[in-house]
Amino acid sequence: MQKIKKAVFPVAGFGSRFLPATKAQPKEMLSVVDKPLIQYAVEEAVEAGITEMVFITGRNKRAIEDHFDTAYELESELEAAGKHALLEIVRSVIPNNINCIYIRQPAALGLGHAVLCARPVVGDEPFAVLLADDLMDVRPGQKSVTAQMADLYGQEGGSIVAVQDVLREFTNQYGIVSGTAYKPNLERMHGIVEKPKPEDAPSTLAVAGRYVLSGKIFNYLENLGKGSGGEIQLTDGIAAMLKDEPVFAYRCDAKRYDCGSKLGYLKASVALGLKHPDVGEEFAKYLHELMNAK
Ligand code: UTP
Repeated sequence: MQKIKKAVFPVAGFGSRFLPATKAQPKEMLSVVDKPLIQYAVEEAVEAGITEMVFITGRNKRAIEDHFDTAYELESELEAAGKHALLEIVRSVIPNNINCIYIRQPAALGLGHAVLCARPVVGDEPFAVLLADDLMDVRPGQKSVTAQMADLYGQEGGSIVAVQDVLREFTNQYGIVSGTAYKPNLERMHGIVEKPKPEDAPSTLAVAGRYVLSGKIFNYLENLGKGSGGEIQLTDGIAAMLKDEPVFAYRCDAKRYDCGSKLGYLKASVALGLKHPDVGEEFAKYLHELMNAK
């Protein structure tokens, strides 16, 4: 079975739920404690053995390219000042064996269109898609969600979409899948629909911002019209593909934070702040005081 070597990071959306923070900076550069969201996602892909990172960017997204580039002036300053620990942090943002490739999505026509923009680089290989605003926090010792899904792709030989249960009242915020039990935590998908109303949703299993897709997906995406919200939807491409080849829904048990929403972002900042080796203990004390002061 083919190894997953490429990951696509669609980062060309407007981030309108997070304005004004995202007026002039990409939402993927919002930082949870001390790392931008996009770095968490790239680290997840690196852990899966992926070496080619393909970013689908748009206007106002230059900060992402700069983040993964050498910061020559900053590095010289830190070196001259003997700040070796900080220098190491700056240099280890991305390992040396990783290639970053940037493709511009000329207009934000939807996630399906953004993924299709990666075709010239991905070709017909299987590849991962990570939506960096979904921050996936795994248990200590557990593999990253993308690494788990790359393993599953190797075992099952079909595309894998990460899903989690949501309350029925929220189905209109997600791609919702229907399927039949296949193996523990794995469903054979029969259908997938973008943002159905609660009363129309076929289930409460919602897509969680991680995919490992067969390269065939591009053939379906290129023939799609506009779907939900007037956008070209990845969900619709997957719905078309699963009529011809197997697609599996993987119930992943990572804690998902929707950092494209203000509340999700705040929750992630608290949860990861509490776990952070430098500040976690003091932050816990502070939160305790804050609660007791109420
Ligand atoms: P979202 O639905 O979160 O849209 O896109 P958004 O524009 O980023 O944010 P809101 O809803 O306006 O607040 C899901 C993912 O798809 C990417 C986004 O960057 C995000 O990672 N995307 C979406 C694109 O790359 N291009 C698009 O045309 C649309």
